[in-house]
Amino acid sequence: MIKNFVVVGSGKGGVGKSTVAVNLAIALANFEKLKVGLLDADIYGPSIHKMLGITDKPNASKTKKMLPYEKFSIKAMSIGNMVPEDTAIVWRGAMASSAIKQLLNDVEWGELDFLIIDLPPGTGDIQLSLCQTLKISGAVIVSTPQEISLLDVRKAINMFKKVNVPILGTIQNMSFIELNKKKSYLFGKDGVIKESKKQKLNFLAEIPILHEIPESSDVGVPLTSKKNSSVNEIFKKIAYKLVKLISNSTSSEIKINN
Ligand SMILES: Nc1ncnc2c1ncn2[C@@H]1O[C@H](COP(=O)(O)OP(=O)(O)O)[C@@H](O)[C@H]1O
Ligand SMILES: [Mg+2]
Repeated sequence: MIKNFVVVGSGKGGVGKSTVAVNLAIALANFEKLKVGLLDADIYGPSIHKMLGITDKPNASKTKKMLPYEKFSIKAMSIGNMVPEDTAIVWRGAMASSAIKQLLNDVEWGELDFLIIDLPPGTGDIQLSLCQTLKISGAVIVSTPQEISLLDVRKAINMFKKVNVPILGTIQNMSFIELNKKKSYLFGKDGVIKESKKQKLNFLAEIPILHEIPESSDVGVPLTSKKNSSVNEIFKKIAYKLVKLISNSTSSEIKINN
């Protein structure tokens, strides 16, 4: 049984959704001592397998379901391990949505406190069908402070509102870069903080631009899996706030067909 589904979304690609989803999942497991799963719902551009350093295909359970990978204290599943690396997935919306349903229902997730779902960019079929089939406890919105990113974020916020998915809060990623003790605001200053105030959304945290973030993704060892990493305090705070927000809300225990 999966108690809480939390989606990590944004209207835009390349803003750090997957980075946040992976590190948040591990932070919830390591710092809050919860049972956590991570589902890569970005069918057209999966990246979770790479970020977790998983290269083998999934194994089947006795009941012929797929066994999720278990690494860095979490369970995870990504279609990225099932298709050859350079192959483009050319599914229409309905096929992509049914692939996601399989990743939810045909995977032996077992008992989970949280399933973190890394959404693809945009507000298309996958996002809609997930939000309509599952009772999502809430969405975490990731954006850079840049207006061009916020344009798409506003669309995502409206989509979540339309399908009655509560927005747990926002994360401002790539807030600034610090060089020689001086902060430089490459994508503008506090765009997400200002937008969150305007829309009365919880602001969860900001993440600076750090060279170790892409480095850790490429080698498949997420930063929150390491002791004393530069982002541990940030993700500890986000994980703590999320658990609090969800336990304060009326989220019920939800069963999926496992
Ligand atoms: N705070 C950050 N500092 C530096 N690089 C980052 C940061 N957040 C994300 N990145 C990098 O930006 C790129 C896009 O991030 P990713 O998490 O894949 O975004 P999305 O899932 O929204 O497309 C990746 O190369 C990632 O390593
Ligand atoms: Mg991604």
